[in-house]
Amino acid sequence: MTLATVRGWVRDASRIALLSGAGMSAESGVPTFRDAQTGLWARFRPEDLATEDAFRANPANVWDWYAMRREMVAKVAPNAGHAAVAAFQQRHPGRLTVVTQNVDGLHQRAGSPGVLPLHGSILEDKWLDAPRPCCIAQPPVEGHPPRCAVCGNLRRPAVVWFGEMLPVAVLAAAEAAAHACDLMLVVGTSGVVHPAAGLARAAAGRMVVLNPEPSDLDDAAQAVLRGTAATLLPQLLDDNP
Ligand code: APR
Repeated sequence: MTLATVRGWVRDASRIALLSGAGMSAESGVPTFRDAQTGLWARFRPEDLATEDAFRANPANVWDWYAMRREMVAKVAPNAGHAAVAAFQQRHPGRLTVVTQNVDGLHQRAGSPGVLPLHGSILEDKWLDAPRPCCIAQPPVEGHPPRCAVCGNLRRPAVVWFGEMLPVAVLAAAEAAAHACDLMLVVGTSGVVHPAAGLARAAAGRMVVLNPEPSDLDDAAQAVLRGTAATLLPQLLDDNP
């Protein structure tokens, strides 16, 4: 399928779902999830850091890994792909829903409304254990990680760790968007992590993969566009009535 064909599918679609993964932010300078392990962190695997057990075993190490990533995200900006999606949403209110696996907040910073963040946000944190009145009564004590001054409850990144449930309401809204769409654009994801990858397979309408490399979802796609998010999305969405 050619880009022109898919551009026609966009034009004719009344409901579009866009599922994005780490590749969506690659051209903003955010390494894809599995490429992020460079330098100081090269000796760790994400699967060994992004879990509750890893955090409980070594809170400072996991907290610092997320702090490093948070600092990195603060220094980057949305790319032309994020901008094209947000501009399309502004031209066509309610027609395109963004569902993202990314925790970097770049869709939101580009101006996309109603983003469904399946894996949470690296920019926020929450209590590790259910907060008690003492946790709420005063701000946490600064530290790696911050903690409740009275009971020692720790703060943790507000992201979904391996083995954790996705936020129920966000997942339900994402499933509804997939089941209602005429077209799903799957951008920058390897398609290896569920339930996000399952959303692409559950799309009611045509499913199109946008990725410079082969992905686990190519086989289920009605079209595969070999290219990057910042190149393809403006070509598909800009000036598309
Ligand atoms: N434009 C589009 N796609 C790109 C680009 C780009 N510029 N650069 C890389 N890609 C593609 C890669 O080819 C790969 O298929 O982005 C994909 C990134 O795959 P992963 O690193 O596996 O990231 P993702 O699919 O988002 O991982 C899903 O798994 O590790 C967990 O919670 C984490 O949200 C993450 C989830």
